[in-house]
Parts: sequence; structure tokens; C-alpha cells
Amino acid sequence: MPDPVILGSDHAGFALKERLKAALDRLGVPWDDVGTTSEDSVDYPDFGHQVAEAVATGRFSRGILVCGTGIGVSITANRHPGVRAALVCDEEAARQSREHNDANVLALGGRTTDPARADRILEIWLNTPFAGGRHGRRVAKIETR
Ligand code: RB5
Repeated sequence: MPDPVILGSDHAGFALKERLKAALDRLGVPWDDVGTTSEDSVDYPDFGHQVAEAVATGRFSRGILVCGTGIGVSITANRHPGVRAALVCDEEAARQSREHNDANVLALGGRTTDPARADRILEIWLNTPFAGGRHGRRVAKIETR
């Protein structure tokens, strides 16, 4: 059974988050969802912090965040030590964010990412292992505190 993932979004990412949950079901990946629960306006940091905290504390090994562009949630999540949130726009970046950066949070833009492409990004991101080696040395240099 794959590790469960935790998802969160604001209103602008809500529709894509719902789609990604269906994709996770098809892939057999268990998930939890911190919200939001509708397209009513909310503040993206409230959800970015919840997902990042769950990953930073080890409660979940990986998280997925969606806002309008993915920018706000990735900035928010990356304030948490140990969180490496990658704002991913295409399949190659999805692969490299895992192989090279050991990204543990995937950030997507609900208003900027084609939904079918988001499904492909998700599957690649979930199934690509960290390459280690020289990339391990570099990732170890990221943390500042
Ligand atoms: C909400 O309008 C929008 O600002 C938010 O979803 C996100 O794109 C911020 O980075």
C-alpha cells in the first residue's frame, strides 16, 4: 500500500484538488484532505501551512497543494523546515522535482495547469524516486536552520 498523501487548496485550487483526489483513488493512493471544501473565497496560507506542517512533522511523507497559480501555496509551504515544495508546470519538472530535489510537496496551479496534464504530473511525481548521490549532497545543503 503506498504512503497516504495529504492535500489542501484554496478556492482557486478547489476544482483541481477534487480531480486529483479521484486520480489518487484510481492509482490506489490513500489521501486525506485539509480543505477547502468549496469555491468560496478563503486564504491560501491557511491550507498551505496545514499541509506543510503535516509533512514537516512526519505525519505524512508527501503533500499536494493547489491554489490559483501554485505560487502562494509553495511559498507558504517552503517556510517550514524540512518541506521541499515544488511548483510543477509540466511532466519533466515533475520527474526532476523528485529525482533531483526530493520534493515532498507538489504545488499546482488550478488556474494555470491543464487538468489532464495535472493528472500526468501527479502520477509521475508519485512514482519517481529520489536519485540520491550528488543530488543528496545538494538537497542536504538546502536547509538554513
Ligand atoms: C486567489 O485569487 C489567488 O491569489 C491564489 O489562489 C493564488 O494564486 C496565490 O498565489
